[in-house]
Amino acid sequence: MARRKLVYEGKAKILYEGPEPGTLVQYFKDDATAFNAEKKATIEGKGVLNNRLSEFFMTGLNNIGVPTHFLKRLNMREQLIRSVEIIPLEVIVRNFAAGSMAKRLGLEEGTQLPRPIIEFSYKDDALGDPLVPEEYIIAFGWATQQDLDDIVALALRVNDYLSGVMYGVGIKLIDFKIEIGRIWENDFMRLIVADEISPDSCRLWDIETGQKLDKDVFRRDLGNLTDAYTEVARRLGVLPNGGPAAMGKPTLIN
Ligand code: TMP
Ligand code: ASP
Repeated sequence: MARRKLVYEGKAKILYEGPEPGTLVQYFKDDATAFNAEKKATIEGKGVLNNRLSEFFMTGLNNIGVPTHFLKRLNMREQLIRSVEIIPLEVIVRNFAAGSMAKRLGLEEGTQLPRPIIEFSYKDDALGDPLVPEEYIIAFGWATQQDLDDIVALALRVNDYLSGVMYGVGIKLIDFKIEIGRIWENDFMRLIVADEISPDSCRLWDIETGQKLDKDVFRRDLGNLTDAYTEVARRLGVLPNGGPAAMGKPTLIN
């Protein structure tokens, strides 16, 4: 196989140069981190599951007219994506209190919020991805007010889509994080959903039992993470019977 040029290596994914200009290959690793990489592990099968799950969610979004970076899945661990300029923000949407919000406000996890609440963190591990007000974002030039209005509209559409899809398989979408990228088409700039959508970046609770089916299983040592992600994939019908092992051989691309 031809050697590909590595463009960027993050904690859970690697980006390689794509086969055509404007494209990248996104490789999903088995590595899991939490608390800004203070806690680390390799969890066999996680990358395969997240590649499939992110494909599933991004394809659904593309199909309902929410633009994403996803072009096609290439093999078990890789997908072809559009190259974007990432806005250095984590866009978090919350439907029920959990995690850092529950802690900050002293709310019981699972408390329903009066409406979906959107918050922004500045992407910087060394700083612990600090929560930032819109004024910082605009003043430091990470995004304009118009961009933020567009990002909020995109985030709410993703929220409605994901909440509905998860509800259909008996899972409550507590909260999630997305990242947004810029692309240019002729002279026009557009904002699209980028990065990944997977149980690494969502909180997913079984509606009946409240069982956690997301990365909190790893963060809080609640059990086997692959089992939790496999359950999400199985319910959504994105796994052939037999689990991650039955997903077939990878296709090499160059
Ligand atoms: P939080 O409650 O810890 O702030 O997390 C909110 C949501 O964002 C939750 O679904 C997990 C997700 N998330 C990430 O995807 N990456 C991160 O680095 C953090 C802190 C949270
Ligand atoms: N993704 C972050 C980390 O790597 C935090 C998290 O998801 O909890 O540490």
